[in-house]
Amino acid sequence: MKNSTKKLETDRLVLRKFKEDDYQAMFDYWASDESVATGAGWPKHENPEDTKGLVKMWVDEYKEDNVFNWIIELKKEHPIGSITVVRKDLGNHTCELGYNIGSKYWNNGYATEAIHTVVDYLFQTGLFDVITAQCFEHNKASIRVLEKNGFVKEGVLRNRYIVNNKKVNLVELSLLKEEYEG
Ligand SMILES: CC(C)(COP(=O)(O)OP(=O)(O)OC[C@H]1O[C@@H](n2cnc3c(N)ncnc32)[C@H](O)[C@@H]1OP(=O)(O)O)[C@@H](O)C(=O)NCCC(=O)NCCS
Repeated sequence: MKNSTKKLETDRLVLRKFKEDDYQAMFDYWASDESVATGAGWPKHENPEDTKGLVKMWVDEYKEDNVFNWIIELKKEHPIGSITVVRKDLGNHTCELGYNIGSKYWNNGYATEAIHTVVDYLFQTGLFDVITAQCFEHNKASIRVLEKNGFVKEGVLRNRYIVNNKKVNLVELSLLKEEYEG
């Protein structure tokens, strides 16, 4: 499926493909944000050049089929985060979501809104019957946004990640297409 990262709109957000010149906004609004990096489990970016290389790689990836990677923009403002299919298994019709919102913008319902529209679109593509996500067990906000979108806890992967030299559990959640369609 070419052009998989279709432009999507919600009441307050536009979700669109990354462009190469989005790197500075990504750096400023979430990639250099310690709280975002810690919650998601990647090292925060120390300078915009780190972000530039990553965004260039993502833009190149859009040439491939079935790449789902959106920048999340506040309407008439600027980008505040991203939402991405971080893993997919087309044979088994499953994929895993990852998402980030800059901490200045937390608790306004933006991630919930973005996940809602992306889930709807991913099921509509016909490629996926199960959408999963993994969160640190202590990342209550992330678990909450998934549950608000109908995701159900599958289980806990014990000591599956090391954050600040401490072993932490991961929680896996999933949403089945048949549950979503009710
Ligand atoms: C997880 C994340 C994307 C949520 O973004 P957001 O735009 O703030 O999410 P929303 O505003 O849509 O929803 C947040 C929900 O979590 C709740 N919440 C926030 N902090 C919480 C906490 N410490 N304990 C329990 N609930 C919490 C909010 O109250 C809200 O629920 P409500 O609407 O029922 O009140 C954002 O915190 C983030 O980017 N974190 C860092 C990166 C990350 O963790 N990514 C996910 C990796 S799996």
